[in-house]
Amino acid sequence: MHAFPVRLTESPKPLPKDVSKSFGDAYGDHMFLMDYDRERGWHDARIEPFRNISLHPSAAVVQYAQTIFDGSKGYRRADGGIHLFRPQVHVERLNRSAARLCMPPVDPDLVLDAMLRLTRIDSRWVPSEPGTAIYVRQTMIGTEGLMVVRPSNTYTFMIFLSPVGSYYAQGAGPVRILATEARVRAAANGGIGTAKAGANYAASLLAGVEAHAGGFSQVLWLDSIHRRYLEEVGTMNIFVKIGGEVVTPPLGDSILPGVTRDSALTLMREWGLAPSERPIDIEEVMAAGRDGRLEEMWGVGTAAVVSPVGELTYRGESVAINGGRTGPLVQRLYDAVTALQYGKAPDPYGWRV
Ligand code: COI
Repeated sequence: MHAFPVRLTESPKPLPKDVSKSFGDAYGDHMFLMDYDRERGWHDARIEPFRNISLHPSAAVVQYAQTIFDGSKGYRRADGGIHLFRPQVHVERLNRSAARLCMPPVDPDLVLDAMLRLTRIDSRWVPSEPGTAIYVRQTMIGTEGLMVVRPSNTYTFMIFLSPVGSYYAQGAGPVRILATEARVRAAANGGIGTAKAGANYAASLLAGVEAHAGGFSQVLWLDSIHRRYLEEVGTMNIFVKIGGEVVTPPLGDSILPGVTRDSALTLMREWGLAPSERPIDIEEVMAAGRDGRLEEMWGVGTAAVVSPVGELTYRGESVAINGGRTGPLVQRLYDAVTALQYGKAPDPYGWRV
């Protein structure tokens, strides 16, 4: 256990009434912070009341987007207890994101302690309605005021909590998605798509707005070179089941190594489904959609967990997937992942902490 000071709030906020249909509308009473400079390394680890932060107008994060984040979830079990789901994997990924953006690594044990401590201190914020969780957001920002483009010499790392329900306003049902050739989320072969960098989410906004204007929930991202291989859907990794084969794109510079992607692959391997990781051509998916071999399609991510795709549109043509309804494998995966998350199934993997 790492020791760090805790200053509790004197004015706890009222809890939101029902978070099952919202995502990130409320924030806990406390936050973890620590600071970094070249002389002292990470220092002043502490928990204090949740508050706004103040920044130099020319801070590296403000001007040149030197920022990364990660997020895991904590779950309220039926016995009232709380645990986090695979938090260490998120911290490992945070450190890989940090390396990609020239930021200093954090001590994984310290950050895990901080996540557990903060969740305990703010335990009244952990909701218990079905489908809800506490989202534990970790963020690192470059704080040095600078005008030249170079890595910041100073950083702040924060952890804060938000009680969340479903990521999509319409709930967990199948969504309509639009494959876009005009815009890409991340560049292949050398880009930062594999890091959880704020800049990747900024890059995704315009295509998302355009998709929404067309009545679609999410963008299906294609690769930046050929504009034909599936990469991700919205903020999630993508899976398809075509003619009996379960397949997801292989990890590379432009695809985020999702924790839920890994959990889903682990479970489906155990079920004997032998999921493949190989490039998936959008033309292959559309052809399968036309001749009835596109059985299921879904996104996976920490926020939305397992999210079915009901309809895919590409170059003005739409194909329905499983008649626009949630398919049996998507349902099985959702049930299995959430049973592990909520402590309703044995955890042979040691994923609950
Ligand atoms: C996810 O958890 O699936 C994410 O990508 C983070 C999301 C809130 C943008």
